[in-house]
Amino acid sequence: MVKEKIIVTSALPYANGNIHLGHLSGAYLPADIYVRYKRFNGDDIIYICGSDEHGVPITISADKEKVSPQVIIDRYHEANKKAFERFGMSFDNYSRTSLPIHHETAKEFFLNFYNRGLFVERKSLQFFDEKANMFLPDRYVEGTCPRCGNEEARSDECENCGSLYDPSELLNPKSKITGATPTLKETSHYYFPLGKYQPALEKYVDEMNKKYGWKDNVLQYCRGWFKDGLKERAITRDLDWGIKVPVDGAEGKVIYVWFEAVLGYISSTKELSQIKNDPDLWKRYWLDPDTKYIAFIGKDNVVFHTLIFPAILMAWNEGGKEQYCLPQNVPANEFLNFEGKKFSKSRNWGIDVDEFLNLFPADLLRYALGANLPETRDTDFYWKEFQMRNNSELADILGNFINRTFTFVFKHFDGKVPALGKLEKIDEDMLKEISEYPKRIADLFEKYKIRDGVNEIMNLAREGNKYFNDTEPWKTVKSDKERCGTTLNICLQTIYTLAELFYPVLPFSMEKLFKMLNSKPVDWKESGKPQLAEGHKLNAAEILFPKIEDEKIEAQINKLPKSEIEAGKNDLISYDDFMKTQLRVAEIIEAEKVPKSDKLLKLKVKLENEERQIIAGIAKHYKPEELINKKVVIVANLQPAKLMGLESKGMILAVENADGTLQVLNVSESVKNGTRVK
Ligand code: MF3
Ligand code: ZN
Repeated sequence: MVKEKIIVTSALPYANGNIHLGHLSGAYLPADIYVRYKRFNGDDIIYICGSDEHGVPITISADKEKVSPQVIIDRYHEANKKAFERFGMSFDNYSRTSLPIHHETAKEFFLNFYNRGLFVERKSLQFFDEKANMFLPDRYVEGTCPRCGNEEARSDECENCGSLYDPSELLNPKSKITGATPTLKETSHYYFPLGKYQPALEKYVDEMNKKYGWKDNVLQYCRGWFKDGLKERAITRDLDWGIKVPVDGAEGKVIYVWFEAVLGYISSTKELSQIKNDPDLWKRYWLDPDTKYIAFIGKDNVVFHTLIFPAILMAWNEGGKEQYCLPQNVPANEFLNFEGKKFSKSRNWGIDVDEFLNLFPADLLRYALGANLPETRDTDFYWKEFQMRNNSELADILGNFINRTFTFVFKHFDGKVPALGKLEKIDEDMLKEISEYPKRIADLFEKYKIRDGVNEIMNLAREGNKYFNDTEPWKTVKSDKERCGTTLNICLQTIYTLAELFYPVLPFSMEKLFKMLNSKPVDWKESGKPQLAEGHKLNAAEILFPKIEDEKIEAQINKLPKSEIEAGKNDLISYDDFMKTQLRVAEIIEAEKVPKSDKLLKLKVKLENEERQIIAGIAKHYKPEELINKKVVIVANLQPAKLMGLESKGMILAVENADGTLQVLNVSESVKNGTRVK
């Protein structure tokens, strides 16, 4: 079998808060299981990560606490690094984007593009805080909505009434930093011509998908972006925290965090080269177009890893100096929720990894999360389910099988592997099962179906228990000791195989199990073959998975904020409440841009025998002509409103993707205009 050369990365988490279970399920645990499996398989693999230490999320946390960004990143880098270690994450390097090696790498890319004339420079108007003497990122401006009077509206949108407007229309704009009234001031930024790379990116995504099978959710995102057309993106910001733009006349500007953070994967590998005293290490991986590069992320990061990072690498490769490998696959996960709701730090909803590991061992969490990864849809962490996974699966199935086998072998065979005698059909079937599992699990892991893999391994333990029951060693020990020895031998071989298969998933407990087996994992490719020789001495068993008492779980549930649980109940609406909303199918018959607005479209829609005008904030996502003859769903009994002086009667339903793109809901052509949706 060929050895593969592999880079695996997990999204660099912002060093502005503690890692929680949601993060683990999204981009970290699946990657770690995959990496541990690949290492065990003998592949040549490096696993790279680190802290993302620039950008507005960091400065906001710093402002809130009135400390410098440096204090924030130092604190959370250390905390997250330690939490990851406790959880058993096996990164080869966990770096930081504040290191000089990263700044140099990012500047090198920037200057390479700049010198080749790839960037376009453009001017725009942006809020400026005279008192703080700085430009204000969107999230730093608040004011009164020009439509509904909501006093907490953002610089260009109102969450209360959903309207979008030009920043110049915002009433009483206030800087969130000083409270001063910001002025609109001209600034200029460098733009990366993402659109220029659209044809190459489409080809790249298509080829990778054909060869390696990308996940549907990831392809959907990409296709959505291609359909809208990729546009140039500003890759500089007026901020003083970050990597300074390395050209004259760009004082006060930093490189946009996303442009440089993705390069953190490369600089983290460079740091690994330094640590290992092997200066060319990073080149052997990154500068080999045949390297299999897999980027594990959560769904909110898709566009950056499937389009922007590849475009950056393509742009570098075009320069001709060196050829970087591009991501071969980007197995993005959906989100993990906590007890039915999104994790929220401010509402105290969820649990940090460190806190969790003070209560329960890492492997329990690795199993519970691994068996329920949000690979194809959002999933939830429930305390009760966590308890069930431990008590009814780890303890009752896996632990029990190991325990009863060891107990028997110690009691009747002196703690040594009994001889394998004449085989009956049931034994041959079981040996065949054992031999087939490793390939089956490998096939799943290779397709990034980590959740299915984890659940499938537990099935082998189920089969082990069944075999134990069916062969009744407690009877044969009296009637036919050789037969008894044969079946226990097969049970032990099964346990050995389980130890190997679970090794990437439950590294801490399988380490212990190998000690009990007085053996070591050999190679994934060898697993499934009987490895324990007759007469091999075992070590005494210990209980690997003690049960979790109800009280311990209840205590955690009782700690959940009551206000949130109550609020959850109030969130429910009655059937009558729902029926107050009249949703109807409408056909768009006219569409045009609203002058002086880059967000609004003026639409005319047709219901059964009525036409009306709707102003919709989707201009950034659809060209007017794309909408003609589309059948959509509208809220038909919404109070009329005026947007930029234009009357709007109704609202079009759309979904907002995690990356902020909007997609209107489509209804098939055969549905008659005006039909009620309920
Ligand atoms: N810090 C980002 C987040 O937490 C992820 C960055 S991944 C990167 O969402 F490596 F591409 F930067
Ligand atoms: Zn409003």
